[in-house]
Amino acid sequence: MKRRDFVKTAAAGAAVGSVPVLATPARARASGPGTRPASPAAPAIHTRATRPVLVADVSSIRFRNGGPESAIERAFRGITVGEDILDACVAGVNIPEQDPEERGIGYGGLPNADGVVQLDSCLMHGPRKWAGGVAGLEGVKTPSLVAKAVAELTDHHLIVGQGAQEFARALGFEIHDDLNTEASRALWLEWRRRVDPGHWLDPEERLRGRERPGQDAPARMRRFHDAALAAGLSMVDDGLIDPNSFWGTTSLEAVSPDGDICGVTTTSGLSWKIPGRAGDSPILGAGQYVDNDVGAAGSTGRGEANLYNLSCAMIVEFMRQGMSPRDAGMAVLRRVRDNTVEARLQNSRGLPGFDLRFFIVNKAGDYAGVAMYGSAESAFAVCDENGAREEPLEGLLEGSPRD
Ligand code: GLY
Repeated sequence: MKRRDFVKTAAAGAAVGSVPVLATPARARASGPGTRPASPAAPAIHTRATRPVLVADVSSIRFRNGGPESAIERAFRGITVGEDILDACVAGVNIPEQDPEERGIGYGGLPNADGVVQLDSCLMHGPRKWAGGVAGLEGVKTPSLVAKAVAELTDHHLIVGQGAQEFARALGFEIHDDLNTEASRALWLEWRRRVDPGHWLDPEERLRGRERPGQDAPARMRRFHDAALAAGLSMVDDGLIDPNSFWGTTSLEAVSPDGDICGVTTTSGLSWKIPGRAGDSPILGAGQYVDNDVGAAGSTGRGEANLYNLSCAMIVEFMRQGMSPRDAGMAVLRRVRDNTVEARLQNSRGLPGFDLRFFIVNKAGDYAGVAMYGSAESAFAVCDENGAREEPLEGLLEGSPRD
């Protein structure tokens, strides 16, 4: 299919439903110096048979949006019946993205400080060496599909903000005025109530501040963000927000029966973030990384820690050097722990005051779910020939990030 025809087909598909179903045409691109571009009908470059397996965060198994399958089940079914591996993963995460009960991603994800839901996503197609992402996207329930369109239809890797929305609109994605649900809106109002009113900068005040910042602007900004984070974490402590939703994210990593590897990460990002803040989830190498010769890693948790340490790329590089998925994940968690030196990011024990979770697969289908903090309740999702299930996450540190 020619690219122009493909765009037309995708847009026509979008006109009849809220989510355009983008098939994956092979993009004509040379695979190395002097090589011929792949023919448009070329299949993914398969390597060898392996046992298919998917790993993900628990959103991928606990949310079905009223349907019969969770994200990980939908994706596994797709890859075992020969769907393109990335198409299958994206179709999977579209389920929790559209589930209003899931507060960490897509529709009903917790909004930014102004009460606006802004979504981030990125994905990588191992065999085709495609990657795409969007950040700060408003009004589209399924940012992962927009990220896939970035990878498929352009030579860009990342489109942000208004540009991402216009890109989605041009492809026929439905643009909603507001992705809040009643519940996410109520939680935002509660957060506003908890933020010390003396430190509150409402959007108008911020605009006025931009015109006349005043000498105390940096100090006020810092005070506001300390108060904003404290108010958000107090809502986690009080059980109003699931800790998984505060930095809520869904990340799904897959190895197909042919040994091909893909990954997709999607999120509404840090709850109550500064408008425009992008975390790790749209950034290749930080919240997601795939190398078809080696493996994949995806993450949930405090995105800034993954941005600073380029965690997912690092995990894949450690696996390339021979480490198992578990050891590679633990090595990066130790690095994050050692790099967390600012007191305001530490708990009373001087350890990271946040959680971070990695979902990791290698080419052979070995997998691991590891976290900065493990607990009896913490789990990750796995799906293979034995079915979909939750398995315990292994923690680097004991106790809670808030101890
Ligand atoms: N890991 C999601 C975020 O920090 O935005």
